[in-house]
Amino acid sequence: DWSMKAFRQEAVARIREQVGSGRVICGLSGGVDSAVAAVLIHEAIGDQLTCVFVDHGLLRLGEAKKVVALFRDSYNIPLVHVDASSEFLGALAGVTDPEVKRKTIGSLFIDVFDKEAKAVGGADFLAQGTLYPDVIESVSFTGGPSVTIKSHHNVGGLPARMRMKLVEPLRELFKDEVRELGRELGLPEAFVGRHPFPGPGLAIRIPGEVTREKCDVLRLADEIFLEEIRRAGLYDDIWQAFAVLLPVRTVGVMGDGRTYDHVCALRAVTSVDGMTADFYPFDMSFLGRAATRIINEVRGINRVVYDVTSKPPGTIEWE
Ligand code: XMP
Repeated sequence: DWSMKAFRQEAVARIREQVGSGRVICGLSGGVDSAVAAVLIHEAIGDQLTCVFVDHGLLRLGEAKKVVALFRDSYNIPLVHVDASSEFLGALAGVTDPEVKRKTIGSLFIDVFDKEAKAVGGADFLAQGTLYPDVIESVSFTGGPSVTIKSHHNVGGLPARMRMKLVEPLRELFKDEVRELGRELGLPEAFVGRHPFPGPGLAIRIPGEVTREKCDVLRLADEIFLEEIRRAGLYDDIWQAFAVLLPVRTVGVMGDGRTYDHVCALRAVTSVDGMTADFYPFDMSFLGRAATRIINEVRGINRVVYDVTSKPPGTIEWE
């Protein structure tokens, strides 16, 4: 694609000019945005870039491994992998309010990231995969009441406390353009085409208190749902799909026994940029198949429901 080739060249030149001989640190989330930003910056300044991947224990199944394999092994990009799951889950103990969850995770993320940044010798610049929609959704509009629906922790906060200048090469791009740029940079299609994943991860897909046990249950249900979606050839038609673990237990029957377990909600939407979304109209047979597998294969879930709310009035995430 010609325009992405041009964008790539310009972005590389801009990064070189901004950074000079300085050192850059980039937080990887496992998402497409931070990955594309990292690869682009690596192309511009090579080993002046160090990536830090903070595993907060709220990631999907096998996620940490995939990220490490891609960056360290395929791209040879220096990568520090930190398992901070105990710290994060500890900080989230007793927290149930969605915004408090976000703030807790966001602020601990800064602390952990800051510590790791110092451990690798510090940096002059902080790279972020901020996109255009992140920029505008974070701005409060003047002239009317300012309403923050959700505070996205990947924008703001970091630079002020870390006293680093920001490198944000994707600030003018929309999600589909970032994917295009990722392809242009040679990232594997399976990675570029991934559904978006929120910074606070599974914490905002577990209404109520987040525990390691609940995360483990949710990870399995989520993996089965996505496996069925891929198997049905629907992954690329859907913008984002995931499972939610509800803090509600219901009675069920399995074999000759009574069960009393959690409800799992499935969510899948189509969207262009996440600002509005429609629920995905699965066949009932697909939903039945996914539900049966989740109930049979995941201990702790005995009922599955499908969310048919569009955005607005719903949001994509449940919190
Ligand atoms: P909502 O739920 O606001 O989600 O309709 C729109 C898109 O944003 C993602 N999302 C987040 N991403 N930090 C993030 O990095 C957050 O706190 C956050 N909350 C929602 C959501 O996954 C969807 O893609």
